[in-house]
Formats: sequence, structure tokens, C-alpha cells
Amino acid sequence: MTGVRDDVSVGFHKGFDDQENEVTIPSLEVESGALPAWLSGTLLRNGPARFRLENGTLNHWFDGLAMLHRFDMADGCVSYTNRFLDTPARRAVQDGKLRYSEFATDPCRSLFRRIAQQFVGTRFGANANVTVGRIADEFVAQTEVPMPVAFDKDTLDTIGVLGYEDRLKGQLTTAHPHYDRDQGLAYNYLLKFGAKSSYGVYELPDGSRTRRLVGEADVRKPSYMHSFAISAKYAILMEFPLVVSPLRMLLSGKPFIENYRWEPERGTRFSIVDLGTGAVTHAHTGEAWFGFHHVNAVDRGDDVIDLDIIVYPDAGVVQHFYLESLLDGPNHNVFPASELRRFTIDVATGAVTARTLVDHAADLPRINYAYNTKPYRYVYANGIAERGRSMFPDTIVKFDVESGGVKEWRHDNHFPGEPVFVARPDADGEDDGVLLNVVLDANTETSYLLLLDARDLSEIARARVPQHVPLGFHGTYVPTAPTGR
Ligand code: CO
Repeated sequence: MTGVRDDVSVGFHKGFDDQENEVTIPSLEVESGALPAWLSGTLLRNGPARFRLENGTLNHWFDGLAMLHRFDMADGCVSYTNRFLDTPARRAVQDGKLRYSEFATDPCRSLFRRIAQQFVGTRFGANANVTVGRIADEFVAQTEVPMPVAFDKDTLDTIGVLGYEDRLKGQLTTAHPHYDRDQGLAYNYLLKFGAKSSYGVYELPDGSRTRRLVGEADVRKPSYMHSFAISAKYAILMEFPLVVSPLRMLLSGKPFIENYRWEPERGTRFSIVDLGTGAVTHAHTGEAWFGFHHVNAVDRGDDVIDLDIIVYPDAGVVQHFYLESLLDGPNHNVFPASELRRFTIDVATGAVTARTLVDHAADLPRINYAYNTKPYRYVYANGIAERGRSMFPDTIVKFDVESGGVKEWRHDNHFPGEPVFVARPDADGEDDGVLLNVVLDANTETSYLLLLDARDLSEIARARVPQHVPLGFHGTYVPTAPTGR
């Protein structure tokens, strides 16, 4: 009976209830406001929707079975569709079995079975529950094993694991590729485990399934990195001191993330790959940080990079997101402190200086992506209304990286998801557009699509889904082509 507090809201628990109900609703009730007439397109979102299985419960928020959600907006109306991603992981559950390894749950108890199964393809069940992206001509659901799962954007029917047409090898990647729209390239990296491990940064031309290696950085103990950054000239990997010994990963018999160790004495290393030449350099700071989401990186003059990222003082946030901690833990398990921090990296010398840009706990940051790699001012994210009183993000925030200022949208016992920025046509400035947010209303145990004006976070409209949308991760907005499909 220790630590139970009644001033900590646990309404977010509803967002971890399984959602088995797959629906198609042609027209959601727009219960307040009106959608802008210019808004014509589709919000696709990804996230976990089932944790409780016949033979046990998945351990962690990141483990839940992937569900896709589709909000289609046109002529002031919104339709909604949700479907589970149809993967080997999902089918095994339907057979009543937990058979595949997830982020923090591993059913493979036998050492010999583990080695025989290797990493990719058999051990992981393609439970791609993190982001939605595009590869070649397909929409794909993505996670941190390099097995993107293609799906039909209109029906959300699963097509299958998308195969690459190259020989690049690696066991881990990020669900957060970057896009250089001027050059028609996507960037990501592959982590190759071995006697010599390496991060291989690659580029993937639009419309292609053939990845090309840009540069490769060797690493002895790989870091757990959920994302990375690109500037105009470089790919930057911030190597947090949450690290793994490759041999331990193979042999330990533990779930994926439990093989990683927090070694703060290492400080934080940066691997920097020149996107033009492939040359690799490193930088280092004695500060130990952990983070999930790089926000932006901008080249400043000669070989100096400003890298902005949401960081935590340690990796405790990974523990925080275990269901045992979130749902059954004492209510003093408040959301860990984070900040938006700028690391200024001198590529020539490897020197790093840093400062706090915005001192306000938040995560799931997004920017107006047209400003990626460019000087920018605004970050949108999910924040914490009152530090020390919330176990889960409960606001939408807008950070001004120039002033350190914070704007906030909140509603008691409502839990918003990642804000996705959509620019107004012929926009006048970086923040001229709307934010699309899926909000869990814990009072009615339903969710709604919330549209905010990105300039001041004032409400534009709410469209209600008659059931709850489990708390998920990332989404993307796809404008309707002017000529139709
Ligand atoms: Co992410």
C-alpha cells in the first residue's frame, strides 16, 4: 500500500484496454467546430491494440499487436477505419499462442531454438506497430526490425512483408526514416550485429526497393537508438549509453531490450556520416543522456551541426512503459523528466557543447517536416501538464525553440496522442496549418480526432469515434492527390 496517491490521474489506463472491434464508419459525428474546407486527405496512424493473449499478457507498451487507423477527411466530413495488421505475430495469437519475440516479451525459452531461429524473419513476427511510411509504391507499417509490412491505404488490408531488392544485411533499423524530398531519397540505418558490429547508413530512392549503402560506422557495443537525424550534409546517430554486447543479445535468453545495459560512464557518442562522401567521423560528450526522438538537425556554417533532441537523464523511461509499471505500479511512478536539448557538434574536432532549449517534459515530437534540416522554430509534442502528478503525457504542447516558450492544450482526463502537422495550402509561415491529434477521452471511454490551429493551439473541430482508440505511437498525413486517385 505504498505510494498510492489520489491526485494522480489514471484515466489513461483505458488506452491500454484491448480494442478487438474492427470497424468502418463512413461519417463520424463532428461534435464541435467544423473541418477546414481545404483539408482533404488521410491521417494514417499505427499503434498497439491488443496486449492480453490467451496464454499471457505482453509485457510492454511497445509489444502490443499492431493496429492501423485511418481518418479520411474531405468536404468537412471524416470517416474512420481500423484494422489489425495481419502478421505472423497476430496469427499466432489467433491460434492462442505467443510465439514471437517482441521488444520486452520473449517466448523463446530454449537457447538452441533461439540460435537456430536467428533474428529476422522467424524470431520476430513482423509486428510493425510503430510508424506508417512509404517504400517504393507501397504504404508500409514499420518497426525496428527491417521487415516493413505493406498494406492497402484505402482498406487497411495487409499485403505482406515488403522485400528489398539488394544485399544489405542487418538485424535492426529504425521506424523513423528521413526523407529528402528535393533529391527523392529516404535515409535510414541498419545495425549489423557481429564480431564487428556496425551502423550502416543507407539511402533509398523514391519508387525503389534497392537500398544503397552511404557509409558505415563500426561500433563495439551498439546503442539502443529509436531514431536518428539528418542535416543537409550529414546523418547523425546519437549513441546513448544504453548498450548491448552482441554475444549477449544472441545467447542471453532474455527479451530484446533486457539485454541492454545503462552505462552512463561512457557518456554519449555521436556517429556522423557524410551523406555525400560516406566519410564517418565521431564526436563525444561526457554527458549521459537517453532519448527516443531526434527532432531536427541543422548545419551551421563550416562543419558545425545543431542537433535537437528530446532527452532523458537516464533510460528509466523504458522501464516506465512496462504495463506492470503503468497499470499496476504505485502512482508515484510519475512520467520521467525530459527536455528539448541542443547539442552543437564540431565535426572537424569532435567537440560537443550543449544547452537546454525548452525545459518541459514531453515526447512524441513533430515538426513541420518541410523545415527538416533547415532553420526552424516550432516543435509539437505530447507534454505533461504538471510534473510529478502524471504517469502519462496528457497535453499537446508547442515549443518555441528560439524563446524556450511553451503553449499548451489540455482537457481534464483526456489523453492526446502525437500531433501531426498539416500545412495550410499557400501557408504564411512555418506554423500556418492544423495539428491532427487522436485524443482518448477517459470520461466517456471513447476517442476523438481533434483539430487544433497550430499557431495558437485553439480548437478547430472534434470528430468522435464511438469506441476507444488505444494509445499509439506515430502517424502520417497523406494529402489527396489533386486529380484524385
Ligand atoms: Co518513435
